[in-house]
Amino acid sequence: MNVMEHAVFRRFWYPVMPMSELKQRPQRFELLGQALALFLDDDGVPAALEDRCCHRTARLSLGEVCDNAIACPYHGWRYNREGQCVLVPQMPDRDPGPKRRVKAFSCREKYGYAWVALEQPLFDIPDFPEAADDSFVLIHEFYEEWRVSGLRVMENELDMAHPSYVHLGTFGSPEHLVAEDAKIEEFPGGFHYTGRLGVKQAHHAQDRNNERFLDCSWYAPFICRLRINYADGPAHVIINCQVPLANNRSQVVQFCFQEDDGNGIDEAAILAFDRKVTLEDKHVLESTDADVPLDPRDERHMVSDKPGLVMRRMIQALIEDHETQAVTVQ
Ligand code: FES
Ligand SMILES: [Fe+2]
Repeated sequence: MNVMEHAVFRRFWYPVMPMSELKQRPQRFELLGQALALFLDDDGVPAALEDRCCHRTARLSLGEVCDNAIACPYHGWRYNREGQCVLVPQMPDRDPGPKRRVKAFSCREKYGYAWVALEQPLFDIPDFPEAADDSFVLIHEFYEEWRVSGLRVMENELDMAHPSYVHLGTFGSPEHLVAEDAKIEEFPGGFHYTGRLGVKQAHHAQDRNNERFLDCSWYAPFICRLRINYADGPAHVIINCQVPLANNRSQVVQFCFQEDDGNGIDEAAILAFDRKVTLEDKHVLESTDADVPLDPRDERHMVSDKPGLVMRRMIQALIEDHETQAVTVQ
């Protein structure tokens, strides 16, 4: 399965850019091959337009925001968040008219990111319960490109057989090859996963044999919430999003909600620990094939692969539903 070959992937929300970057100036981002000009309107709400001026094709993202619109860097035509040209500075008394416009995409802010859906989204942006819980603090972790398919990373998040090989340098324990009591409960567009995993170091502030209690959710296609509860410390909730750029390239967007149990939060230590863990994963994941087969007969499996196999089945169903609907509409 290659993301560029299935239009259904255009029908999800993706966190394409930290709001902090948009506060500096407009930015360009290529989502599933679609070049976007991202900017903030006068209310501070992010907007996403096709990054190509309808006059002489210059990149709007190189322009500036003026009077609630983005001004093209070439001749200054201004576009509002709906993509309508509202001013041609060389003809200020003329209405630019409906033909002077560029494509606009759904765009909104959540969790400190601008989220974009290229077409009518099938599901809303996930509501993470910790965001509404005052005992948790949101920490932005990583925003970078990996040469990997997003689905491989999603499977990795809920693959409890890899820590005892990949994460021996951080939390993995060679004595605990799989999770205990693993359970999956599906919901429309995703599933909950629970289980327990023995580890050699449960979290950044601890260094003895321990156990992680996993309470996770996967949201199709490329968002995973990994809530890690510990017997002896505050919960750590990792949100890993893979924003599809092209078949073998994903923008990694990772943030976390860290519980404050009254002892304060050592943000630098949390970031350093999670950085080490993600680099251990990256090393292996970038060696995998970008084309993830959705048909279970096309790779070999073991029992602990169940979460990934459910993801593949649900993604296959979403692709089929979407393609059936597209044929019906034609
Ligand atoms: S190319 Fe954009 S205003 Fe001319
Ligand atoms: Fe991992």
